[in-house]
Amino acid sequence: MKVSCLEFSKICFVLSVCLCAALLLLIPWRQRDLSQPHPVLTCTNTYLETPAEPARFTAPLRWEEWESPGAGVKAAATAEDRQLAKKPLRVEDLFIAVKTTKKYHKSRLSLLMQTWISRAKLQTFIFTDWEDQELRQEAGDQMVNTNCSSVHTRQALCCKMAVEYDKFVLSGKKWFCHVDDDNYVNVRALVDLLSALSPSRDVYVGRPSLNHPVETPDRVKGDGSVTLKFWFATGGAGFCISRGLALKMSPWASMGNFISTAEKVRLPDDCTIGYIIEGLLEVKMQHSNLFHSHLENLERLSPDSLLQQVTLSYGGPENQRNVVRVSGPFSVKEDPTRFKSVHCLLYPDTSWCPDRRSTSR
Ligand SMILES: *[C@@H]1O[C@H](CO)[C@@H](O)[C@H](O)[C@H]1NC(C)=O
Repeated sequence: MKVSCLEFSKICFVLSVCLCAALLLLIPWRQRDLSQPHPVLTCTNTYLETPAEPARFTAPLRWEEWESPGAGVKAAATAEDRQLAKKPLRVEDLFIAVKTTKKYHKSRLSLLMQTWISRAKLQTFIFTDWEDQELRQEAGDQMVNTNCSSVHTRQALCCKMAVEYDKFVLSGKKWFCHVDDDNYVNVRALVDLLSALSPSRDVYVGRPSLNHPVETPDRVKGDGSVTLKFWFATGGAGFCISRGLALKMSPWASMGNFISTAEKVRLPDDCTIGYIIEGLLEVKMQHSNLFHSHLENLERLSPDSLLQQVTLSYGGPENQRNVVRVSGPFSVKEDPTRFKSVHCLLYPDTSWCPDRRSTSR
């Protein structure tokens, strides 16, 4: 009895030593796992308030100057390109996707329908997640029920982007532009910007949300041992992609592939677009400071150049005072987002805009 008890305690001692050793071995591995930077954080957590590298952007490259590093095409344009570029760009050549959700149909979308969407009705498609009968009546086939989830998660947002992409490819339009439901799009300024570029070339234009490129392991083409560095245009400010480039994105973006690409790299929707274009296709994004999101200090925008901007935005409920400065016909109380005032300055012929002559009297 005594011997077996001694042996038992010996075994217990050996076992506890082994357990301690095993625990000691495990600790550094766990810590290393935790210290691995999560790519999602690098994309979303450090948005810039001021434009990244404001000095780098002067004017968009003209199509003659634009060189596609991906395709290795030299600046010399083909006769076909020249022909395409000579045809002036019309608003009909655009496909504008507005991403929204059930809860913002009334509060955000109706303002857009009343203002800028009314000037580009057939070019604007509303991507939402709910079969809203009222909206369907008003927008008809321009409203697309994506059947994606209405929760604000990476997966749900990527699901909508995937539907937007497929719908654009089917539309045959020259330019794909994506905006959010808190963006004002100056359609004329957008046409002017894109007129200087060729839709058959590789163009990705928007506002970078970080002042440095994102770096993430390449889990799509490689096994994750090599990292890819890329810029991306923040979705909240809107961005545009030429048809030529959009078609090249197809292996990673069409028919639901966008969702699986975003899953593989674990990045948000706008970041995944940058990953595909800069990271995988090696096409450089064109940085533009004409696009604006609610993450910027919008008050700082010069009132003189306000009407030349391509997109505008306004601060959400957490920052209601972050709006553009415009001395438009409506007071801040009547028009808290300032979109109505901007719209009346751009289109004074709008029926609900106050008559200038009567207000100046
Ligand atoms: C969403 O579901 C409806 C009803 O099943 C369908 O008609 C529609 O095409 C779907 N939308 C998309 C984008 O697949």
